[in-house]
Amino acid sequence: MLSPSILKQLVTIVGEDRLLLAAEDFQHYGLDRTTVWQANPCAVVLPGSIKEVQQIVLLAKELNLAIVPSGGRTGLSGGAVAKDGEIVVALDRLNNIQEFNPLDRTVTVGAGMITENLQNFAVDQGLFYPVDFASTGSSQIGGNIATNAGGINVIRYGMTRQWVAGLTVVTGAGDVLELNQGLMKNNTGYDFRHLFIGSEGTLGLICEATIQLTRAPEETVVMVLGIDDFPAILDVLQAFTSKIDLTAFEFFSQLALDKVVAHQGHAIPFDTKAPFYALLEFEIKDREVLELAMSLFEHCAEQGWVLDGVVSQSLSQASALWKLREDISETLWEFQPYKNDISVRVSRMPGFLGEVNELVEQRYPDFEIVWYGHIGDGNLHLNILKPEDLSSDDFVTQCTAVSNEIGQLLAKYEGSVSAEHGVGLLKRDYLHYSRSASEISLMRAVKSVFDPNGILNPGKLFAVEEH
Ligand code: MLT
Ligand code: ZN
Repeated sequence: MLSPSILKQLVTIVGEDRLLLAAEDFQHYGLDRTTVWQANPCAVVLPGSIKEVQQIVLLAKELNLAIVPSGGRTGLSGGAVAKDGEIVVALDRLNNIQEFNPLDRTVTVGAGMITENLQNFAVDQGLFYPVDFASTGSSQIGGNIATNAGGINVIRYGMTRQWVAGLTVVTGAGDVLELNQGLMKNNTGYDFRHLFIGSEGTLGLICEATIQLTRAPEETVVMVLGIDDFPAILDVLQAFTSKIDLTAFEFFSQLALDKVVAHQGHAIPFDTKAPFYALLEFEIKDREVLELAMSLFEHCAEQGWVLDGVVSQSLSQASALWKLREDISETLWEFQPYKNDISVRVSRMPGFLGEVNELVEQRYPDFEIVWYGHIGDGNLHLNILKPEDLSSDDFVTQCTAVSNEIGQLLAKYEGSVSAEHGVGLLKRDYLHYSRSASEISLMRAVKSVFDPNGILNPGKLFAVEEH
């Protein structure tokens, strides 16, 4: 509990209505989508300007109070969890469009802008913001940048990092930095912008971003293919990517499809059951692309890789097919899934898939395992579902042990323990499988430069060091 004098200082900065102290506000602003921790902040503040953010940071620095930056709280790694009496600084009110420049095709927005609003703004300008994922309706652009969000279009458009042309941040030292100013070319030494992207609120609070927009794609079609086995998914990927620039190549297992269909009432793509399904999307600039795709489909069927398939004939059919993939995450919440978000280079996927599959089959003989993810990016979302009769604690203990084995496998394949969800609290004990001891100690050193008092999101990414 903060003292009345500190509360008064916070009110002086943000105003009475923007300091929230009710239990339901703590619950709302103190958690992300993870269910492992209890919300326990000491206050929630909603600043309305960069100046106010700076004043909050300076006050917290002076009084040695921890801050948890908060966006749309759709994260899956505990990066926005305030469990240890921190002040939550929610950026919701910094949600305006500051400036749009049609020649540069850039737009400067407040960090609290909802991702979908940015996408819609781009469409209104005849342009496109290509980062897309299921939670765009509530996630915020600042949180996307802080976690370098990925999603379903990475194979073609890359991650959030690729679209950030400039940033305004308040560091843990209370400095306001304007980074890269929207420049396309800027070789003037260290590019701090990229340090802040994916830093999970540990270096500073992202307040404003200049986002690069691009040309809107031509009409796209979606193809869902039933695939015979794991290795064949990669054969299909190679067959298609060697001839067509895909905008997405996703996959999911029969179990994932069964759950989505049962839970959401969606129609199955075709009657043939297959162990796995691939969802491909590509632009049809002309009829030739469609013909090429059909001939690739036939080739894959002849090879025995593909058992059946469907191509969308309309926008509504395309979006219905997308729902089979996009609704998996939401569908699985009721099973308290233990989420793995792992990646290896696509070329290493065949060997890795074989080993990780063998490992989970051996180690989770009685658990339901749901496979899906962005396999075209080398990214698997391996979800383990909690059996009803097992306590949550026992379930997490068992999954943690297996995660260490998956971590060792990832180290062998030089893969990542967090492909796109971030490290937060959930993955920090596995960081060393993907980053060397020297790297982690350099990360800590970088944090101490930008956040000398260690007040920003302490305990996220790595544990707080005992002195
Ligand atoms: C997805 O790809 O559906 C998201 O990353 C969410 C999830 O993994 O559950
Ligand atoms: Zn994902």
